[in-house]
Amino acid sequence: MAYLLALDQGTSSSRSIIFDEQGRLIASAQREFTQHFPQPGWVEHDPLEIWQTQLATAQEAIAKAQIPPQAIRAVGLTNQRETTLVWHRQTGQPLHRAIVWQDRRTAELCAQLRQHGHAKLIRETTGLVIDPYFSGTKLRWILDNVAGARAAAERGELAFGTVDSWLLWQLTGGRVHATDVSNAARTLLFDIRRNVWDEQLLNLLNIPPSLMPSVHPSSHLFGETNAELLGAGLPVGGMAGDQQSALFGQACFKAGLAKNTYGTGCFMLTHTGAQFQTSGNGLLTTSACQVANQAPQFALEGSVFIGGAVVQWLRDGLKAIHSSADVQPLAESVPDAGGVMFVPAFTGLGAPYWDAEARGAIVGLTRGSTVAHIARAALESIAFQSAALLQAMSKDAVAACGAPVSELRVDGGACVNNLLMQFQADLLGIPVQRPQVIETTALGAAYLAGLATGVWRSTEELSTQWKVERSFHPTMPRDRAAELMAGWERAVRQAVGRG
Ligand code: G3P
Repeated sequence: MAYLLALDQGTSSSRSIIFDEQGRLIASAQREFTQHFPQPGWVEHDPLEIWQTQLATAQEAIAKAQIPPQAIRAVGLTNQRETTLVWHRQTGQPLHRAIVWQDRRTAELCAQLRQHGHAKLIRETTGLVIDPYFSGTKLRWILDNVAGARAAAERGELAFGTVDSWLLWQLTGGRVHATDVSNAARTLLFDIRRNVWDEQLLNLLNIPPSLMPSVHPSSHLFGETNAELLGAGLPVGGMAGDQQSALFGQACFKAGLAKNTYGTGCFMLTHTGAQFQTSGNGLLTTSACQVANQAPQFALEGSVFIGGAVVQWLRDGLKAIHSSADVQPLAESVPDAGGVMFVPAFTGLGAPYWDAEARGAIVGLTRGSTVAHIARAALESIAFQSAALLQAMSKDAVAACGAPVSELRVDGGACVNNLLMQFQADLLGIPVQRPQVIETTALGAAYLAGLATGVWRSTEELSTQWKVERSFHPTMPRDRAAELMAGWERAVRQAVGRG
């Protein structure tokens, strides 16, 4: 039996999972790490803490699996995307804490880039919008604000990387400085059609090219881990940003297949095959995972900022429940939300609304409304936001793939909530498919690593491993769903102050 070790470095924790060659989960370990908020809107991580927690979980998972390290055929890496690191090539010392994807410190620089008319070039080259979310302006900030950084970069002494590159560098003892297309695609510096760092964009942001890692397909032999770290030298055979990795782990290998990850926020991606399609509906275009010798593959992406986080707010803000798990019985204690709509625009609204100034709203309250109705409306808001995203995505999918999205594959913590998944299917009018393995982010990385090392031969073979645990079929009449969506859109207009 061959095993794969997936390292899943997320925003709030580092995790490691061992899968067998049938894609079954054998053992896992997880560690949270410190979030640093040095100023309002700034978010940082300690690069060494990221590395140490990741390594510790890998060692723990191997110990729990009770397999010799040599039985692990390959390591796959997946990671929080866009988070930006710079380190000294000679010493491996980070120059600064990692600037996390959520960090808004470069908002002004982004506004200037937009004012100077660079949005079109950036969209056509990278598929992205100009926003502090992406790595490019964060890297520029480090070069401009850390003493001596720019001069050292110009002397070729520094390396830039997203979290995948940083972990690969550590795992290989500083021998390999590389990334994959799905992570490179999130930097604002990468031409996703030609798969190269774009000279014009590097110049625009004043980034010396010597900083940049080499870029490879997501399934590729990136290097070998130092033997003393995991008990054996293991090939790193896969790397991918976490959302593209989840798309791969959901066996969405072909145009038209879509997944939604229900985490703190929700990330929805639709594979568009080899078709680069910019969105007419406020979505991003991004590189999907690429297997060696394959043409560039693309996806459309949209995100909901507050997904499962609305349940945290019910618990910690409103104090309506003691633990997150209490939300389902409370919401189920009423037959519906009783006309209550909850728009959790705590940090503005993402795609397809893109309104940074919107704020949360609970509307439709009556004397009969109870906390159960609010809890139900809060849960339903996750489905409403995802449905609005899918409607936008389906319009783009018709242009990119010739047909709207016909089923939605789901993963992430909140997809275990049956009430939410049924309501999601009812709103969408298409089946919602929950797979047997919902750890699809890590599974995607394992698949990529296994493909590079001969554990599996093709994505067709992997498709046969993807199995539905439960399908949620729409049962609500379509006119009722349309009525509910219209009510949601009215509530959103109130949240953005145009009600
Ligand atoms: O783009 C950000 C995304 O990759 C973060 O994912 O799961 O670490 O919150 P997660």
